[in-house]
Amino acid sequence: MKARIIGTGSYLPKKVLTNSDLEEMVDTSDEWIVSRTGMKDRRIAEGEHTSDMGIAAANAALKDAGIAAEDIDIILVATMTPDYIIPNTAALIQASVGATHAAAIDMQAACSGYLYGLAISKAFIEAGIYKKILLVATEKMSSLVDYNDRTTCIIFGDGAGAAVITNEGEGLLINDVCLGADGKQADLLTVPAGGSRQPSTETTTAQKLHYMQMNGKETFKHAVRRMEASSRECLEKSGLTEGDITWMIPHQANLRIIEAIGKRLKIADEKVFKTVHKYGNTSASSIAIALDELLKEKSVSSKDNILMTAFGAGLTWATAIVTRT
Ligand code: UT7
Repeated sequence: MKARIIGTGSYLPKKVLTNSDLEEMVDTSDEWIVSRTGMKDRRIAEGEHTSDMGIAAANAALKDAGIAAEDIDIILVATMTPDYIIPNTAALIQASVGATHAAAIDMQAACSGYLYGLAISKAFIEAGIYKKILLVATEKMSSLVDYNDRTTCIIFGDGAGAAVITNEGEGLLINDVCLGADGKQADLLTVPAGGSRQPSTETTTAQKLHYMQMNGKETFKHAVRRMEASSRECLEKSGLTEGDITWMIPHQANLRIIEAIGKRLKIADEKVFKTVHKYGNTSASSIAIALDELLKEKSVSSKDNILMTAFGAGLTWATAIVTRT
């Protein structure tokens, strides 16, 4: 009764924010952005919100899985940009997709949220608690970004991905998911105001404390080390080696980070799936979107293994290895 992903979907807003648009907004250049991040475009939600993107991705995943929304037992939503503090985004998605029998909960593990969600889904299904789970990752990162801050505004984009996870049917068996965190490094990536410690006020807004603040250089180093170590841990737990991996989907944080992990793990570049050039870093959604695109654009055959590895604020990290049935 191994948990498996039987359908996926994704949604990207239409508006494209290009490097030349960013050149008009801050002191940067296409050359700098491409050479330091590999990013060219990212998508920006205009007049639509985190739940709207999640709903579109969820409906696509349900259609792909051939599952009716009323049959879903629980909706898990990975996001750090919820529509509201309350109610949770999962409840908004539940109402819209018509999952009338589903429980609904948000999970916050920053960019690692989708893989944390896969682990929780696997546990629910393999413990016999639930049979059909809708996992949604949806982020409106543009709501946390200061478009005067060149160190963050060039990186992030908006979008959503979703998966239907069940106890039967053809799909991607979730073999192992390895999770980790290091709260001692919490200061590396924060949004200081807007929570209960420092509610938003005129002063915090004037000080721009409601925007994301990131120590890019340190975060970069941790991202490479943590995703490499987590991938190795999960390979060992699965009884697999790097050579058994058909596709790797790293968190789409920065092309240099992605290439460094591939190199360290000795996974050939053509096996590393990338969307970073066109969508930037969409936080929790990045792997969810990339997995959907990989399954639709490439041929994934029976017994192929896909390794997905994520890293984000917290710090949190996670790796999942799934196998095509
Ligand atoms: O989602 C998970 C969490 N996030 C990440 O994983 C992000 C990890 N970090 C990164 O991707 C990279 O650190 C960045 C892309 C954010 C920055 O790249 P970097 O190569 O680490 O640059 P840096 O911060 O060391 O800055 C180098 C120089 C600095 O100028 P000086 O001090 O050398 O004169 C910056 O002020 O580049 C400058 N700079 C820029 N120049 C042009 C920083 N941002 C920009 C910019 N355009 N957008």
